[in-house]
Amino acid sequence: MSANDETSVKPVDPAAVPKRRLRSGALMPAVGLGTFGSDHVGPGEVAAAVRGAAAVGYRHFDCASVYGNEDAVGGALAEILRGGIRREDIWVTSKVWNDKHGEQDLIASCRKSLADLRLDYLDLYLVHWPFPNFHPPGCDVSSRSPNAQPYIHANYMKTWRAMEALVDMRLVRHIGTSNMTVPKLELVLRDARIKPAVNEMELHPHFQQPELFKFVVDNGVQPVGYCPLGSPGRPERDRTSEDTSPMEDPVIVAIAERHGVHPAAVCIKWAVQRGQSPIPFSINPRNYAANLRAVVSDPLTDDEMRAIAAIDRNCRLIKGQVFLWKDKQSWQDLWDVGGKITPV
Ligand SMILES: NC(=O)c1ccc[n+]([C@@H]2O[C@H](COP(=O)([O-])OP(=O)(O)OC[C@H]3O[C@@H](n4cnc5c(N)ncnc54)[C@H](OP(=O)(O)O)[C@@H]3O)[C@@H](O)[C@H]2O)c1
Repeated sequence: MSANDETSVKPVDPAAVPKRRLRSGALMPAVGLGTFGSDHVGPGEVAAAVRGAAAVGYRHFDCASVYGNEDAVGGALAEILRGGIRREDIWVTSKVWNDKHGEQDLIASCRKSLADLRLDYLDLYLVHWPFPNFHPPGCDVSSRSPNAQPYIHANYMKTWRAMEALVDMRLVRHIGTSNMTVPKLELVLRDARIKPAVNEMELHPHFQQPELFKFVVDNGVQPVGYCPLGSPGRPERDRTSEDTSPMEDPVIVAIAERHGVHPAAVCIKWAVQRGQSPIPFSINPRNYAANLRAVVSDPLTDDEMRAIAAIDRNCRLIKGQVFLWKDKQSWQDLWDVGGKITPV
């Protein structure tokens, strides 16, 4: 490692990292480390990043059973805790996969994530997608679950009741949603006994989702932003020729040059200053350290924030085609673009 590398992985004081206060009053670190290896980064490398990220000051880790690495990540978390970081000082999220939406399956899946992650509770547990449609890891864009279904609110609420039971059982502290839309969330907020603490959603300068963002904030739901850098390493199934790259946007590049940082740092600063919680993935110590350092120094100006607000391209990268339930559908059908839940 060169002297320059050593400077760039200098730790950040976790106390200096902004926190988000959730509706329960709990505080969640505003930046987390993503752990999805995008079908090409193996569990060992992700676990090493978790260990390294904790050493440079990360205290928030975004996990999921479908990432296929919770056992390795759990080994890293156990080491982190053995090393003297207290359990209450880390925030661990996991998610139930689409084929485990039934009550018993969901509870068993949560227990499996807890066992793999070597934890006795999760800070946050999410319903990963609002569709019970399975796709195997590494599948291509044409893959469909044979029994694929649309969003059926009554079924989602059965899943949500099991999520609420996990809170009652003290296996999880908070529950939340992911990949939701305004009309779906309106129903869940109406019917939930325990309302979602967060909604995890794609958020980056080219996909700002202003309407959904405002809706969740107005309803006391913390937005967590995935693919905050535009996911340059995302799986092949999630790439189309229309996709754009926020880190290459001339506005982001110019702001980065002005601040003397990588465009990634600008995306992360913007995300945290706007109010979402980005969860950038990286296995590169220089990159994950820089992503965290971005939020404790040299904030963007109001003019820069306005300039970034103006480059939204409504460019969704994770389109979710593999979750479609009928032939001849468009991926837009998953996202209720007309403001109403797409009918069966
Ligand atoms: N709820 C959901 O449905 C959902 C969906 C997608 C993702 N997620 C979560 O969100 C996390 C983040 O999304 P993502 O992993 O798709 O995309 P991302 O964080 O936008 O991008 C990660 C990529 O950016 C590179 N990178 C990171 N920091 C960098 C830096 N400072 N400079 C240059 N390149 C940098 C990484 O490469 P290096 O490793 O080389 O640094 C990696 O290829 C996931 O890991 C997962 O936890 C959730």
